[in-house]
Amino acid sequence: MSLSRRQLLRNGALTALVIPCLEALNQIGANAATSLLEPKRIKSSNGQLNVNLEAKESLLDFEGKKRWALTYNGTFPGPTLVAKPGDVINVNLKNSTKQPTNLHTHGPHLSPSGNSDNPFIMVAPGESFKYTFRIPKNQEPGTFWYHPHHHEFVAKQLSAGLAGAIIVEGESDKLLTDTTDRTLLLADPRIGSDSSVMDTSMMDQMHGRVGDYLLINGQLAPTINAKVGKTERWRLINASPSLFLNLSIDGANFLVIGTDGGRTKPFSMDKLVITPGQRYEVLINAKKSGSLGIYNGSKLIGYLNTSVNTPISPSIASIPILQNPVKTRTLKIAQGGGGMMGGMRFTFNGESFDPNKVNQSVKLNTVEDWIISNTSHMAHPFHIHAWAFQVIDRGDGKSEPGWKDTVAIPVGAKVRIRLNFADFGGKTVYHCHILDHEDIGMMGIVEVK
Ligand code: C2O
Ligand code: CU
Ligand code: CU
Repeated sequence: MSLSRRQLLRNGALTALVIPCLEALNQIGANAATSLLEPKRIKSSNGQLNVNLEAKESLLDFEGKKRWALTYNGTFPGPTLVAKPGDVINVNLKNSTKQPTNLHTHGPHLSPSGNSDNPFIMVAPGESFKYTFRIPKNQEPGTFWYHPHHHEFVAKQLSAGLAGAIIVEGESDKLLTDTTDRTLLLADPRIGSDSSVMDTSMMDQMHGRVGDYLLINGQLAPTINAKVGKTERWRLINASPSLFLNLSIDGANFLVIGTDGGRTKPFSMDKLVITPGQRYEVLINAKKSGSLGIYNGSKLIGYLNTSVNTPISPSIASIPILQNPVKTRTLKIAQGGGGMMGGMRFTFNGESFDPNKVNQSVKLNTVEDWIISNTSHMAHPFHIHAWAFQVIDRGDGKSEPGWKDTVAIPVGAKVRIRLNFADFGGKTVYHCHILDHEDIGMMGIVEVK
């Protein structure tokens, strides 16, 4: 596919290209379309979850043909790992791809050191690595995910299919037993018959690569059939390397009960903007019966077959706002900054990623405010590993509820987040979750001790 078609996709002309397929599905009726499949769930027992994940090249079924992908264990998404606070997840990662890789747990409060959520580990082609993730007892229940994090390979490996969900179950799940609990991992892979789907141009890297179709759990325009008497509960994960999603359902709205880092006091939304990397857990409130279209912007991406419902309203308390930040630092996002790729890349405080440099030194068990500004021409989703934050000012003077690990930094805005550097120290990264930006250097190192 040529760059110009990719740019058309970016500019919203995707509708014209996707609709013929959707119309074909429509002609055979919504019920004849594929129903949404849930990725396989692997649950912990007796406090342990042991799983083998093999990253490998795979051919996946797609619209009657095969498409080339990288997968964990041959499926896209990979298996969903389900655990509880206090559990230990042991992952034996085998790298059967031709590139270096590793494994990042995006979101849960896990140590970034040793063989835990350590982004500096490199698993070479043909090698294996045993990860041990100890979920702290104070982990908020919610929806998290995993994907590779080897610098310079993240965007291509994620867009090729290396991603899966992590669910942490906790006390507040008892309020949600009357629901149909589904994982919806949204991603836009490039569709092709060989590994060239991973290739990209410098221009694509600068804008963030865009795929060919926005899929839900790897499926094109699937149908979700609501069960009578149960509230639909969706764990939405934006696993696209670059797309900001703007989701809506024609005839229904979302009751948000969870953000990136855990549950939150329920609030209702007609549309949900989800940046790359972010998650929302929602209950669906259908105001119409029938086959309702699920949209990203104006593009139809699936269907919900439902009758009118009143969702359960779990009494989840709002989270207390962190107090007494001991320090305020500023991070300036800008374009340019010299070096090999000059104006083609984005930087924090004028610096590109340097694996040997600590950019931010933080005192363990302190709260800090970071003010992130953006003078570049595009919005960037800012993400930090291991320690969650609250959005005090999202750039327009308003706060955002809930725990977050990723937040949009709009063009021209100054966003204030409050970070909780609690429980353990270590060295890890913050970066833009337009992962091509991260791969070309829009990343820094934070050390907490
Ligand atoms: Cu999902 Cu460092 O990222
Ligand atoms: Cu992450
Ligand atoms: Cu960016």
